[in-house]
Amino acid sequence: MYLTIGKTSVNAPAHIKISDHPSNPAEKLMAMAKSDMEAVNGIILERMKSPVGMIPDLAEHLVAAGGKRLRPLLTIAGGHLCGDVQPAHHKLAAAVEFIHSATLLHDDVIDDSDMRRGRKVANRIWGNSASILVGDFLFARSFNLMVETGSLRALDILSTASSVIAEGEVHQLASLRNVKTTEATYLEVISAKTAALFAAACEVSAVITDIGEAKTDALRAYGQNLGLAFQLVDDALDYGGFEVALGKSVGDDFREGKLTLPVIRAIQSANSEELAFWQRVMSDRKQESTDFERAVSIIRRRGTLESTLELARDYAREARTALDVFDDGDWKKTLMLLADYVVDRIS
Ligand code: IPE
Ligand code: IPE
Ligand code: MG
Ligand code: MG
Repeated sequence: MYLTIGKTSVNAPAHIKISDHPSNPAEKLMAMAKSDMEAVNGIILERMKSPVGMIPDLAEHLVAAGGKRLRPLLTIAGGHLCGDVQPAHHKLAAAVEFIHSATLLHDDVIDDSDMRRGRKVANRIWGNSASILVGDFLFARSFNLMVETGSLRALDILSTASSVIAEGEVHQLASLRNVKTTEATYLEVISAKTAALFAAACEVSAVITDIGEAKTDALRAYGQNLGLAFQLVDDALDYGGFEVALGKSVGDDFREGKLTLPVIRAIQSANSEELAFWQRVMSDRKQESTDFERAVSIIRRRGTLESTLELARDYAREARTALDVFDDGDWKKTLMLLADYVVDRIS
């Protein structure tokens, strides 16, 4: 299946969009967590302030464009699943979104991207230096928020996640343009750069509620598997999605010579002509204007978008299973549905 996308436009919402008629599990969770997410948004806006005007200007550009707010939503939903949401959950949820925002600011510099959340990337407006420095500012602000909760364990979990994300990004950098990149290396990279924050966002919710080790581990496993599924889909969408729906550029991975699973698997089954193609465009990065189209057509022929989505479905199933230890209820049900939804999502 080639990913066909129905949505044709994205109107970036100011800050957060909370629908009265949720049409998918992410929107449903957002509606269920409405008052908490409004509190989280308040903290985010408050802590973006700085007398150095370029900081709030640049941060606003990214934050006001919305984003799905999936990770802070997991921290809040996790708290509800554990039966108790405290002010510390709000602070940690804001910290999680700050860590995410910082990595996005850095990521768009590293990936030389054009578009994020339906807008021109901040580094194309303010420059790379400003984007990197404001990313650092948001990272540092996230640590203030964690410290304010007084939970050393939450601080440990989120600071470890932050270093693991950076490790994942460096690992990815070291594997760039290498057509021999294995699936195992790829999975290590996405586990670090993406799943680690999903896992930490979930785990801290249980730590604050002090629900016990089994449920804390379960929430962490849910986040980890959800994060893996999420990034696999993101990597499939880079070859099969539409920019307007995604709100970010497609084809970035190809242009950068980044070996993601659809390509790794296409290389595994490549004939000699295809292998020469992948070597030229990925390793040598000698790309002509029609090469992306050709890559997409090879990937379609080899069925590797489907197989990437299959693997994402496996991780989504693992995520759902991890929640078995919790009592049935609306939060559990919707978090389980969210796992399937991240595989079916188009943005
Ligand atoms: C983008 O994450 C970075 C990845 C891990 C693929 P999201 O798709 O959650 O980004 P926003 O916050 O909704 O813009
Ligand atoms: C995002 O990775 C992971 C982090 C932000 C650490 P990508 O580079 O694959 O994400 P997009 O596609 O730009 O959102
Ligand atoms: Mg990247
Ligand atoms: Mg990127």
